[in-house]
Amino acid sequence: MKLEIRNLSVEIGELTLLKDINLTVSEGEVVGVVGPNGAGKSTLLKAIMGLINVSSGEIMYNDKKINGLPTYERVELGLALVPEGRHIFPNLTVRENLLLGAYVIRKDKKKVEERIEFVLDLFPWMRERLNQLGGNLSGGQQQMLAIARALMSNPKLLLLDEPSAGLAPIIVSDVYKVISTLKNEVGISMLLVDQNVKKTLEVSDRAYVLERGRLVLEGRPEELYKEDIVRAYMGVKV
Ligand SMILES: Nc1ncnc2c1ncn2[C@@H]1O[C@H](COP(=O)(O)OP(=O)(O)O)[C@@H](O)[C@H]1O
Ligand SMILES: [Mg+2]
Repeated sequence: MKLEIRNLSVEIGELTLLKDINLTVSEGEVVGVVGPNGAGKSTLLKAIMGLINVSSGEIMYNDKKINGLPTYERVELGLALVPEGRHIFPNLTVRENLLLGAYVIRKDKKKVEERIEFVLDLFPWMRERLNQLGGNLSGGQQQMLAIARALMSNPKLLLLDEPSAGLAPIIVSDVYKVISTLKNEVGISMLLVDQNVKKTLEVSDRAYVLERGRLVLEGRPEELYKEDIVRAYMGVKV
């Protein structure tokens, strides 16, 4: 797996949402993107998934240009998004929510059942709740379900948008434990966007700082910790 974004810009009318973005994710890497609200983090993930049109630049996945491909083809190639706000379906059961994530493999029933077993191994509590409605889960469980749903298509690169938003600190730790497991035991590559800068940097191999649609810094977490701008986002007095 290799993602390489070159000179990517996204403009909507007069608005420039992303400008000249250059970013890579290599095999097995967890790459963080941090930055304030409105910086363009979600726009970046949407552009990679094909949920928003890009104005210029290239999104290369395994050396193939994927701009212009419909989202489901990107999912078939190995991309999956855990969207901001989770977007699980409250009136569908947990199992039905999972099956939605299995859309691109739906014809291979054996594979679908294998993937369900895979996510149930990762989230054992879910087994007892497969027939419960998604809306009856707690916020943290809904976040886990959103992650599980994205894992159903067996992605090679998982894009995570604000996985800790709105969750109590103890639940945030649980979510990051799952992200660590995916990194260390499953070896899945990830591009992670989160306003929880501390958690993002802890789990990331490398990170970028995005401000007003532009990447302004890139480095290893231990280097970024020294940067005033990053410390400011972390609430550390600088
Ligand atoms: N479809 C859209 N049309 C116009 N402006 C948008 C659209 N989507 C996002 N924006 C604007 O683009 C900027 C970046 O948004 P977003 O990517 O959601 O930021 P972040 O995820 O970093 O908070 C914000 O100013 C937002 O209001
Ligand atoms: Mg966002």
